[in-house]
Amino acid sequence: MKKIIISLILFSHTFSAQYTDFNIVKEVKVKNKGVVVSAHPLASEAGAKVLKMGGNAYDAIVATQYALAVVYPQAGNIGGGGFLVGVKNNGEKFTLDYRETAPNKATHDMYIDKNGKANTDLSQNGRLAVGIPGSVAGFFATLKYCKLPMNQLIQPAIDLAEKGFSITEQEASLLNANKEYFQQHNKSSIVFVKETPWKMGDILVQKELAETLKLIQKQGLKGFYEGKTAEYLVSEMKKGNGIITLEDLKNYKVAERKALEFDYKGNNVVSMPLPSSGGILLAQMLKMAGYENLEKYQQNSTKAVQIMVEAERRAFADRAEYMGDPDFIKDKTSYLISDEYLKNRWKSFSFNKATPSSEVGKIIKQPKESTETTHISVIDKEGNAAAVTTTLNGLYGSKVVVSGAGFFLNNEMDDFSIKPGVPNMFGAVGGEANAIQPNKRMLSSMTPTIVLKNGKPYMIVGTPGGTTIPTSVYQSIVDVVDFKLNTNISVNSPKFHHQWLPESVAFEKNFPETTIKDLEKLGYKTEKWNQIGRTEMILIGENGNIHAVADGRGDDSVAVE
Ligand code: DON
Repeated sequence: MKKIIISLILFSHTFSAQYTDFNIVKEVKVKNKGVVVSAHPLASEAGAKVLKMGGNAYDAIVATQYALAVVYPQAGNIGGGGFLVGVKNNGEKFTLDYRETAPNKATHDMYIDKNGKANTDLSQNGRLAVGIPGSVAGFFATLKYCKLPMNQLIQPAIDLAEKGFSITEQEASLLNANKEYFQQHNKSSIVFVKETPWKMGDILVQKELAETLKLIQKQGLKGFYEGKTAEYLVSEMKKGNGIITLEDLKNYKVAERKALEFDYKGNNVVSMPLPSSGGILLAQMLKMAGYENLEKYQQNSTKAVQIMVEAERRAFADRAEYMGDPDFIKDKTSYLISDEYLKNRWKSFSFNKATPSSEVGKIIKQPKESTETTHISVIDKEGNAAAVTTTLNGLYGSKVVVSGAGFFLNNEMDDFSIKPGVPNMFGAVGGEANAIQPNKRMLSSMTPTIVLKNGKPYMIVGTPGGTTIPTSVYQSIVDVVDFKLNTNISVNSPKFHHQWLPESVAFEKNFPETTIKDLEKLGYKTEKWNQIGRTEMILIGENGNIHAVADGRGDDSVAVE
C-alpha cells in the first residue's frame, strides 16, 4: 500500500511501503534540538536517530552518510569520497579531506591515445575512471569528534540495506534511465537492474551491501580497505581495465587540513581548502563582489548578477591555472584570496559590458556536458556544526558495482585535468597543477561551508552540482548576508552560474527573463539549464532559533532529533 499526503505549508510527502515509511519534510523551525538536512528523508532520519541516542553533530553526519550510501545510490557512497567541515561548540574548527586519490599505477597521460587525443569516455566511465575511495576512512577519521561507537552509527544503514526501503519517483526514473549503462559496465547481474521498469514505492533490498557494512562494523577500517571487501574491489578491477591494487587500498589516508577562513562583512566564513577549489573560489568571489557593495542591489537583478558573474569569471580562470592537490603543488591560497591580488584582478570590471574570458585567463581550448554529489548540513542541540559534501562524481559514479560487495565505484579520475584545455564532465579545464600523478588527489569544487557570526555557527550550507557548487554556495551567502532573504527563499530561488569557460552564463529555467535580456544587451552569452544544485541550508538565529530547509528540487528532507 502506498499513500502520499501533501501538506501545503511544508511540502511534506508521506510514502508508506511494505517495510519503510518516510516523510519528506522541506522546512523546519525549531529551537534547542538537533537538525539534519540531506538529500533523502531516510538518511536524514538516520542522522536524527543517532542524535536522539545522545550522539552529536559528528555522529549524525556519519550515520547520515552511511544511510545515503544505501538509500541514495546515485551519489551517497562508500565507494567515493568527500569533505567535512566542522565547527565545535568550543570554537574549534577542523576539516577532513577524504577525497579519492589516483591509483599508484596512474600516469600523467593515461587517458591520451596514440594520436594525442584525450579519451574522456575512459576517465568518465568504467573501471579506469575509479579513484581510491576515501569515504569509509573519512567516517573513521570523524570518530575522533563523535560520542557514539561506529557499530551504532552504521546500524541504520545496515537495516536499510538488509530490509530494503521504498524508492522515490526520482530514484526510480534515474535507475530506469541508467539501466543500459549499468548493463554495459557490469559483467554480473546487479540489484539496481530488473527486468520491468522501477516505479515509486518499489522495494530496493541490497544484501551484498548489507554484508559489506557488517564487515566494516565488525572489522573497522580493515573491513573495507583490506580482506574480503578489498579483494572484491580488486577482482572487479580485473574484470576490465581497472588498475586499483590491494596496496592502493591499504595505503589510503585521510588528510586533516586547516579550514580555509575569511571575513565577509563581519561574518567568519569557514570552508574547505585545497584539494577542493571550493573555499578559495568562494573567498575570491565574495571578496570581489564585495568591492561593489552588493547589498545596494536586489537578488537576481541585472547589476547584482553582472557583478557576481564577473567575480565568478575571474575566480574560475584562477582555478584552471593554479589549483590542485596541495601535497603536490605550490599552494598559492593566501595570495589568491588576498585583497592585494583581488583588487587588482577586479580593476577590469565594468558595468558597461561583459569582460571577455580571454582577458582574465589563458585559454587553451573549450566546450562542456552533465552529472551527482550530495550535501548534508547538521547542527546539534549543543551547538556543534557539521557540513559534508560527498560524491561519486557522475550519477552512480563509474556505473560499476563491486560484485560481491554491492556498492557503486566513483568516476572521480575525471576531476583531474586529463589533458591541458580538455574540459571534464563539468566543462572545467585545467593544466599542470591538476594533472594526474600517482596517489594525488584530483581537484574538487565541493564547498561544505559554515558561516560564523560572533564566533557561533550562523549558516551551514552546501550543495551538489560540480562546478556550480561554489557559485551556488556564493549565491546562498550573498542572499542571506547582503539581500537579507530567508532560508527558504534563498534555497529555492532560481540560480545562475558562470565558470570562465565556456564563455556563456547558465540560468536556471525559472530565472527572471528581464535580467537575462538585459545581460544579453551588455554582451553576455546566455543559456538555460533545467536545474542548478540542491542546496541544504540551516540558519541559526542569535536567539538560537533554527530554520532548516531542504532543497525543493529533489527528495531532500529535514529531520529533527
Ligand atoms: O568534486 C567535485 O567537484 C565533483 N566531483 C562533484 C560532482 C558533483 O557535484 C556532481 N553532482 N551533481
